[in-house]
Amino acid sequence: MKEELREEIIRLKKEKNAAILAHNYQLPEVQDVSDFVGDSLELSIKATKLSNKVIVLAGVDFMAEQAAVLNPEKIVLHPEKGATCSLANYLTLKVAKAYKEKYPDIPLVVYVNSYLEVKAISDYIVTSANAVEVVKRIDSPRILFGPDRNLAEYVAEKSGKEVIVVPQESHCYVHSHIISKEDMILAREKYPNAKIAVHPETPKEVRELADFIGSTSQMMKYACSCESNQVIIGTEIGLVHRLRKECPGKEYIPLNDAAICRFMKQITLKSIRDSLRDMKNIVVVDENLAKIAKEKTTKTYELVGIKL
Ligand code: 13P
Ligand code: SF4
Repeated sequence: MKEELREEIIRLKKEKNAAILAHNYQLPEVQDVSDFVGDSLELSIKATKLSNKVIVLAGVDFMAEQAAVLNPEKIVLHPEKGATCSLANYLTLKVAKAYKEKYPDIPLVVYVNSYLEVKAISDYIVTSANAVEVVKRIDSPRILFGPDRNLAEYVAEKSGKEVIVVPQESHCYVHSHIISKEDMILAREKYPNAKIAVHPETPKEVRELADFIGSTSQMMKYACSCESNQVIIGTEIGLVHRLRKECPGKEYIPLNDAAICRFMKQITLKSIRDSLRDMKNIVVVDENLAKIAKEKTTKTYELVGIKL
């Protein structure tokens, strides 16, 4: 069944002039049928470099929305509408506006894990891969940052700036509630020679015990190139598949086997096949808001030397 779906998707990609971009957390079979696998930053850049008419974004909805924002001339498909991100839902337009009113002179930096209406009223749009570098370059000692209290705290530590979290309670349930300090302690005991890489959405008590902190693709590069042959992966387990496939010869161990994002895993070969075959679940964005969000993204990326 999987093989039949895979073949049908490969045929449909040619027929529709489509490319599949998959996030590092996607199911192994989804990664394997994709043209490109990466973190949020890489996916957004890659989407702008493709000549294909159709982009299938295998990830959560804000990623598909961001691909549509950056590529108004392309058709972006998000195979499963229910694949949302619980972290993005913390930063509603109402919350963002309230913070902007309370702190009118402080720039609002939003994490790409947020929705278009919020991005459009932000000053900068960052991903976990570039948040620290962008914030360092913003000409203000204080910034508003959201959603994600852990990433915000990490950005504050690394940039030396005062960071006000928007909103205070925002977090990712996978990195905050499933991955824990106990996992780190157990991993160190069980694998004393291993290196541990974690995502900045993990809490401080986890990050403090890690050898490396970075976005999913930065974790991938570290795991592949570090001196140890055993690397513990402290993020959603999807990244382990990519590592085993693209950087064989080392042992990659999930920090916690249960670190599975139920939203990311809603995208399946069947939902990709259905959306491509029927051209359904086309991402529609407000043209005006999209134009503003694209300008903010371009401005942010330029700050760190990335040209879209
Ligand atoms: P990356 O941009 O590091 O891939 O992270 C996205 C994400 O959703 C983390 O939970
Ligand atoms: Fe959102 Fe967390 Fe899933 Fe990433 S892992 S998509 S932040 S819920």
